[in-house]
Amino acid sequence: MIQRPDITVYRESADALAERIRAKGFSTPSVAVILGSGLGAYAASDAVAERLVIPYREIPNFPVSTVSYQKGELVVGRVGGKTVLFFNGRFHYYEGWEMWQASYPTAVSRLLGVDTMIVTNAAGGINADVLTPGDLVLLTDHIKLCADSPMRGRNEDALGERFFDMQAVYDVNLRALAHRCAAECGISLKEGVYAYMAGPQFETPAEIRALRLLGADVVGMSTVPEIIEAAHCGIRVLGISCVTNLAAGVTGAPMTEEEVLATSAAVQDHFTALLDSVIRRI
Ligand code: HPA
Repeated sequence: MIQRPDITVYRESADALAERIRAKGFSTPSVAVILGSGLGAYAASDAVAERLVIPYREIPNFPVSTVSYQKGELVVGRVGGKTVLFFNGRFHYYEGWEMWQASYPTAVSRLLGVDTMIVTNAAGGINADVLTPGDLVLLTDHIKLCADSPMRGRNEDALGERFFDMQAVYDVNLRALAHRCAAECGISLKEGVYAYMAGPQFETPAEIRALRLLGADVVGMSTVPEIIEAAHCGIRVLGISCVTNLAAGVTGAPMTEEEVLATSAAVQDHFTALLDSVIRRI
């Protein structure tokens, strides 16, 4: 276990980034977007102007992701007059990162001036009465059963308080905005509670039945560390899951990473249209 580091470590990352962002003429970033598995196309699209691509390995103290299909780069760009940070590639606990490393980009974003974060992921659909693969689900809350937390360890008062409220992080105004944008784009946007499982193994059918009883609608292995960090440092969050498969035991079909990636590729157009509309109107 590597302890959560001192604020100076985060500041080194943020200061180096701030300098590169300023040098390219960008204003202070206000929005960060964390792009989930197979959902990275938007950052490379024409909707993002004046792109500055910074590989994670060029950012001091930044973790570097090992999942081969994830890029591991920060794309800084302008969308609708705002400077937006796109984290293309995230750090998963199942890769061996500590939780505070999984949420490292969130804290650095805060130090750079970000106050709004959009977190996206691929997830399994638990509630098959309502959800089918390809659905986009707006997160209203989450359940995390594993004991670890990105905020475990010494608290950094410069970032946030030791004990902090988790009731408002899934911001109600952002959720309303996302629904308006989805309706205007003609995209169906459902709502649900995300269950965090540490992975990397997919869940057992019994685990999924238990999660359903507990009130979860979708399940995945990311996002929650970043959301907790955001709640701590005062960033409001919009969370969107792409249902890439039905969860274990729902249909009995074998679960594969290929299915996850194929479905996220198939919804790419809807997903990027929604993302674009929301970012422009934040
Ligand atoms: N379980 C956990 N994580 C996932 C799933 C799932 O079914 N699908 C995509 N990510």
